[in-house]
Amino acid sequence: MSERLHRQTEPELMDEADEALAYAAADFAEVNAAFVERLCELAPDRGGAVALDLGTGPADIPARLAGRKPGWRILAADASRAMLLHGKVLLNRTGAGVRLVMADAKRLPFRNACIDVVFSNSILHHINETARLWNEIRRVARPGALVFLRDLARPRSASDALDIVRKHAGNESALLREEYYRSLLAAYTEEEIIEQLDRAGLDGFEIRMVTDRHLDVWGVIPPA
Ligand SMILES: C[S@@+](CC[C@H](N)C(=O)[O-])C[C@H]1O[C@@H](n2cnc3c(N)ncnc32)[C@H](O)[C@@H]1O
Repeated sequence: MSERLHRQTEPELMDEADEALAYAAADFAEVNAAFVERLCELAPDRGGAVALDLGTGPADIPARLAGRKPGWRILAADASRAMLLHGKVLLNRTGAGVRLVMADAKRLPFRNACIDVVFSNSILHHINETARLWNEIRRVARPGALVFLRDLARPRSASDALDIVRKHAGNESALLREEYYRSLLAAYTEEEIIEQLDRAGLDGFEIRMVTDRHLDVWGVIPPA
């Protein structure tokens, strides 16, 4: 049996102008709509929630969410100035009431226990110091808050990763295909995420593969 693919890190932030532009120009409509659908399923009520998106990128997901949850106050954080510029353009165009925040998800400028819903699409594979991310989520989320992260799962082999890139990004730019491949190699496996959650005291969280390349992690923050 061939050996399981080792994780290969990629830069934490997407702060180069060309990569931010390639990402903002790519068509993620279907996956982003699916993400928002799943978040709304997990949070059918929670009226008036303060919600926080970590690693918001071009802010398409929070903009869509604002249309579905008009009563929520949505904050969208990223530490890449280049990405936030694209987010600003999108929010101005759509008129979505989302507040952009320039912040590191491992050191957020929020007080303890002030967030009702923490969500994120595709930040985890960027982060090496995952304990700092999970601890920060625990710190800012109030007990009872919903946490929902979706990310890529590392394929079993480099050739499986190439197949995924061909299947799901075959029509995208060469730069985006290259980044997608690197992201798949930087992604964590289900077993690695279970260990991260155990260490953060979030062992009640659930993990599930939801597509051929995505896994969901979700749960409710336990009492302090
Ligand atoms: C793959 S993009 C995903 C963007 C967006 N969530 C989406 O699904 O379209 C990952 C984003 O996370 C941001 N990011 C990575 N590490 C971060 C950190 N420590 N703090 C804040 N943002 C971070 C990157 O700059 C990038 O914009």
